[in-house]
Amino acid sequence: MKVKALKGFKDIIPDEVDIYRFIEETSRDIFHRFEFREIRVPVLEKTDLFVRSLGTATDIVEKEMYTFTDRNGESVTMRPEGTASVLRAYIEQGLHAARPLQKLYTIGPMFRHERPQKGRLRQFHQISVEAVGIDHPWLDAEVMAMAHLILTNLNINASLEINSLGCPECRPGFNQALRQFLEDCDPLCDDCLRRRRTNPLRVLDCKNEQCQTQYQEAPVIINHLCSECAAHFQAVEAGLNLLRVPYTVNSFMVRGLDYYRRTTFELLTDDLGAQSAVGAGGRYDGLINELGGPDVPGLGFAMGIERIALLLEMQDTVHEKAHTDLFIAALGPEAQKKAFPASHFLREKGISVTMDVMDRSLKSQMKQADRTGAHFVLILGEEELKKGEAQLRDMRTRDQKPLPLQTDSFTWSADILNILKSGLKS
Ligand code: HAM
Repeated sequence: MKVKALKGFKDIIPDEVDIYRFIEETSRDIFHRFEFREIRVPVLEKTDLFVRSLGTATDIVEKEMYTFTDRNGESVTMRPEGTASVLRAYIEQGLHAARPLQKLYTIGPMFRHERPQKGRLRQFHQISVEAVGIDHPWLDAEVMAMAHLILTNLNINASLEINSLGCPECRPGFNQALRQFLEDCDPLCDDCLRRRRTNPLRVLDCKNEQCQTQYQEAPVIINHLCSECAAHFQAVEAGLNLLRVPYTVNSFMVRGLDYYRRTTFELLTDDLGAQSAVGAGGRYDGLINELGGPDVPGLGFAMGIERIALLLEMQDTVHEKAHTDLFIAALGPEAQKKAFPASHFLREKGISVTMDVMDRSLKSQMKQADRTGAHFVLILGEEELKKGEAQLRDMRTRDQKPLPLQTDSFTWSADILNILKSGLKS
């Protein structure tokens, strides 16, 4: 029986990898401009890290984590997101001592046992960003502007929605008001009935239509912010306006993670059906301290690479595919013996070379050269051997140049290299 990949786990084949790399490289370029530096953290952590960071009443901790007992009897979890691991590393490596503001990003796989569908996988990839150390509202604006710029540079049109979830000072008052409101709501689904007690804010995220209709009248958190949270939110809005980043306030936005305080945001698209969030994040002041680190604030966001890749695939833009510099079409054993070492000498000099050793016709080799997007083709058939010169063709300009065959492949490859570097016309 054929062994297949697990449900929700996907192979990323070379054409898709080209798109993933394009997304990653575009993001890295933007990170560099904003002075964010890469950190790499393990995919496996102690379960406790995620339980403490994400919150026990979240979907992820309640039912989506890949948790198992390892051979030492310790409970470990495949990371469902990047923030907890990056903050653990920030604390463990003493990064707060190195710089007052640490701007970090990480790119890699995350694991959630969700129901797979378009844009939702069980192993997916995130570009995950954290800015740790200061709570200035302009940092919130800058981080959102950076997320927005990455998507703009990828030619993706996503709208930015923002909200504030308040802080431990003002959220209890809002929770109380929301609980009171929910007392009068009837009927409610089982999840909402449970969350009404445990985590009332999360009910607003319910997908049940009957619940949602009633919640349209629910109290909104923006009206319950303490004066500091309200001032922070106002300054974040002012910062976004200064940077000319378009946004809307969505006071019903609820995030699926419990660590958020104050600013939260989502980058949404209409083109992915139910999975409309291309990226999301927010502030998590207090979390680092709760995890045993210094009392420093922080915020961040993550974007789903699979969702961005789906959006790029919908566009008709051609993404630069890795192409071959030179395709060698050598026919017959004599020509191949000449070309084979030349292909190696050229690769040593940094040229990418494809050479056909399957004795196929010139026509099918030229077809393959086209498919591989080869810039140059070196044709070395029996006729060329007889004449004592191969033909070097530029596939983009269609210019062609004869290349005298000298006896040794090494000198011959040096001639090819010169022509590739200076162009066929010179
Ligand atoms: P999140 O909202 O859980 O936030 O995920 C961020 C993004 O990851 C989503 O907007 C989506 O694009 C992508 N994503 C999430 N789950 C899946 C899935 N099952 N399949 C495909 N893509 C998915 C976080 O993870 C936070 N750690 C973000 C953050 C960083 N907040 C502060 N710092």
